[in-house]
Amino acid sequence: MIMEKKSQNSLNFHLSEEQIEVRTAAREFAQRELLPGVIERDNAQKFPAEQVKKMGELGFMGMMVSPKYNGGGMDTVSYVLAIEEISKIDASASVCMSVNNSLVCWGLETFGTEEQKEKYLKPLAAGEKIGAFCLSEPEAGSDATSQCTTAQDMGDHYLVNGIKNWITNGSTASIYLVVAQTDVDKKHKGINCLIIERGMEGFEVGRKEDKMGIRGSDTHSLMFTNVKVPKENRIGADGFGFTFAMTTLNGGRIGIAAQALGIASGAYELALKYSKERKTFGKPICDHQGIQFKLAEMYMKIEGARLMILKAAFLKDNGDDFVLAASAAKLYASQVANEVATEAVQIHGGYGYVKEFHVERMMRDAKITQIYEGTSEIQKIVIARSILK
Ligand code: CAA
Repeated sequence: MIMEKKSQNSLNFHLSEEQIEVRTAAREFAQRELLPGVIERDNAQKFPAEQVKKMGELGFMGMMVSPKYNGGGMDTVSYVLAIEEISKIDASASVCMSVNNSLVCWGLETFGTEEQKEKYLKPLAAGEKIGAFCLSEPEAGSDATSQCTTAQDMGDHYLVNGIKNWITNGSTASIYLVVAQTDVDKKHKGINCLIIERGMEGFEVGRKEDKMGIRGSDTHSLMFTNVKVPKENRIGADGFGFTFAMTTLNGGRIGIAAQALGIASGAYELALKYSKERKTFGKPICDHQGIQFKLAEMYMKIEGARLMILKAAFLKDNGDDFVLAASAAKLYASQVANEVATEAVQIHGGYGYVKEFHVERMMRDAKITQIYEGTSEIQKIVIARSILK
C-alpha cells in the first residue's frame, strides 16, 4: 500500500493498482467492521473505539505520513478513496480518521520538530494514540482569529487558560494541538499552536455534545486552567499558530469533502438498490420516470463532487496550490451530500424516515459537512479571495 510520489504529465482518470488496493481494503473493512452496529452506535452516541483501533492497525490513521514515522507513505488520492469508503458506512468513524490524518498528523509532520515527530507523530500515525485539533471556541468559530484561550509566555514554558468547543476526538484523544493567543497586540501574528498531552495538570475534558448527526463521533468541550506547557511543545516559530491552523485546514477540507462524498455515494447506492426492490403501481419504483430523474441527478452530482475532490488531492500530491480547489470541493461536496441524502430518504418514502434505515442517519450526518472545517460561507470567502487575487 506504500506509494512513491510521481509527477504525472497527462490527464489520467485511471487509478493506480496501489490506489485501487487501498480503496478495496477500506471498503471491505467498512462492510465487515463498521456496518454491524452502526445504527446502534448512532442511537447510543457510542464512539466506535474498537473499530478505530483496528483502523489504526490497518494503517488508516496515518495514511500520508512517511514510513519513517510509522505512516503509510501514501498519496492524498489514496487517502480520499479510503475516507469515501469509510464514510459510506460510518461518517462518525471517518471524521475521527480525517482529523487524525489531515489536521494532526499532517500538521506535525510538515511543521513539527524532529523531537515532536518522534514523540507525538509516531504513535498517532501508528494508530496507537488519537489526536485532536483544537481551534474553535465558544466565541471563535468562523472568526478564528478571535481566540480567547491564552498561552502566556513564562520563559521556559507557556501557561494555557481557556475553553475550546466542539472538539472532535475530545475525550478519546491523548494528544491535542491547541491554538491560543500569546500576544494580543500582534493579533493573529501573536497566536501559537501548542501540543498538549492528556493528563497535563489543569487540563480537563468538558461536556459531551448531544448532536444531530455523526452521533458516534466524540465531540467535547475542553477546559485549560493554568496548564504548564513546555516551550518545546510549540509548533513552529513564535506567532506561527494561526498560519499553522489555516494551512493545516486547507488539506483538512479535502478530507471532509471526501467524507461528504462518501455520505452521498452511500445514500445513493442504498436508494438505487431500494428503487429496484420496492414496487408501486405494479412495477419497481425505478421504472417510474420520477424516480429515474432523481437517480440521474444524484449520480451527476456525485460524479461532479468526486472529480473536484480528486483534482484537489492531485494538486496537493503534485505540490501545486490546492487551496481554491480544496475549498470549492468541500463547498460542493457538502451541498451534494445534503441534497443526495435528502433525495435518498425521499426515494425510501416512509421507510427512509425511520431509524432502522441507514438513509435516515445519513441525512442527519450530511449536515455537519457544511459546518465544520469551515462553514460553506467561509469556503465561499476563501474561493472568492482566491479568484479575485
Ligand atoms: N491558508 C493559509 N494561510 C491563510 C489562509 C489559508 N487558507 N487563510 C488565511 N491565511 C493567513 C493569511 O495569509 C494571513 O496571514 P498573514 O497576515 O501572515 O498574511 C492570516 O492567515 C490572516 O488571514 P486573514 O486576514 O484572511 O484572516 P481573516 O480573519 O480575514 O479570515 C478566515 C480568515 C479564512 C475567515 C479564517 O478565519 C477561517 O478559515 N475561518 C474558519 C475556521 C475553520 O475552518 N474552523 C474549523 C475548525 S476545525 C474543525 O472543524 C475540525 C473538526 O473537528 C472536524
